[in-house]
Amino acid sequence: MQTLLIKEANKENIDIAADIIKNGGLVVMPTETVYGLGANALDKNAVTNVYKAKGRPMDNPLIVHLSTANDAEKYAYTNELFYKLADRFMPGPLTVILPKKDIVPYEVSCGLDTVAIRVPSNEIAHRLIETSGCPIAAPSANLSGKPSPTSFAHVVEDMNGRVDAIIDGGECDIGLESTVIIIKDESAEILRPGKITYEELKEIIPDIKINSAVKNQCTDEKVASPGMKYRHYAPSAPVFLVEGNDNDIINFFKTKQQTENCGILCFSEDEELLLSKNVLTFGRSDDETSQAHELFDKLRRFDNMNVERIYARIPSDKGVGLAVYNRLIRAAGFDIIKANNIQE
Ligand code: TXA
Ligand code: MG
Repeated sequence: MQTLLIKEANKENIDIAADIIKNGGLVVMPTETVYGLGANALDKNAVTNVYKAKGRPMDNPLIVHLSTANDAEKYAYTNELFYKLADRFMPGPLTVILPKKDIVPYEVSCGLDTVAIRVPSNEIAHRLIETSGCPIAAPSANLSGKPSPTSFAHVVEDMNGRVDAIIDGGECDIGLESTVIIIKDESAEILRPGKITYEELKEIIPDIKINSAVKNQCTDEKVASPGMKYRHYAPSAPVFLVEGNDNDIINFFKTKQQTENCGILCFSEDEELLLSKNVLTFGRSDDETSQAHELFDKLRRFDNMNVERIYARIPSDKGVGLAVYNRLIRAAGFDIIKANNIQE
């Protein structure tokens, strides 16, 4: 398939991309979180092609992207809590799972009786949804298993030849996918952490919970969000998280640098303490926003380095850090090594 690369999101080009969506094609669009692989959510064939283009199993449902939260009631049974959340966080990086209406095809929800709703704040995504007049089903635009794409170059690497068009929106502001929550009656649970934090959501939903799969491995068939059971965000070389005090971790990294063909993913302030071989940084230890912004790009870069293993720093799990922690621990397949036990 010939992929149209749209470098400029002017009116004429958005019209072309919107026509592709209306006619059942696939368009990769930038959002404020990561790039999304979009199709008309009401067109079963188009949605099926999304799974094929990504190589994604058909038991992992898609998020439906809307231009305004007011449209949510066309596709889902909304309630007061949804509109409270929408008032505060939409448009923005929040996805809310609600009971679905029949109009949402099986292919979007993978047979669940719920649908995930999101209203992106990215201007290009907003214009594409509005111009097409379609709700847009879109997973992250990476090949299944790889880190989500946060730049045009990442998307071209994964999707050129697999979709009808890719719109260049530069680097995504946030760099990690949206916070996903499920509303149950008048309460809620976080299924995937993101830029909108537990602490912020608690201000609106004081008893909001965090699903145990956010920090722990989960292979249960009945996992609340099917995406949580798959290995994700992974570069080609295996990733190991390294735990311990700062000194032990730096010593661990240095020893590995001398004895193995490895890559090191560390905080900016660590870099000067290490050998200058195959080291990538992902922000300062106290700057979770930069860590979120950098993480996926850095994980992808290791693929061009020819390293056999990657050792990575464990970020804090507070605030936006919880989202960084959640992605990195999945990239590592939950493999954590203690730095003071270098034999491991
Ligand atoms: O920021 C984002 O959310 C990006 C951009 C493109 O919007 N999209 C994204 O989609 O990350 P995806 O498909 O890569 O991740 C969606 C997650 C998956 O883990 C999926 O299992 C979960 O949301 N999900 C979708 N619909 C669901 C539902 N009805 N019930 C439970 N989990 C659902
Ligand atoms: Mg994804």
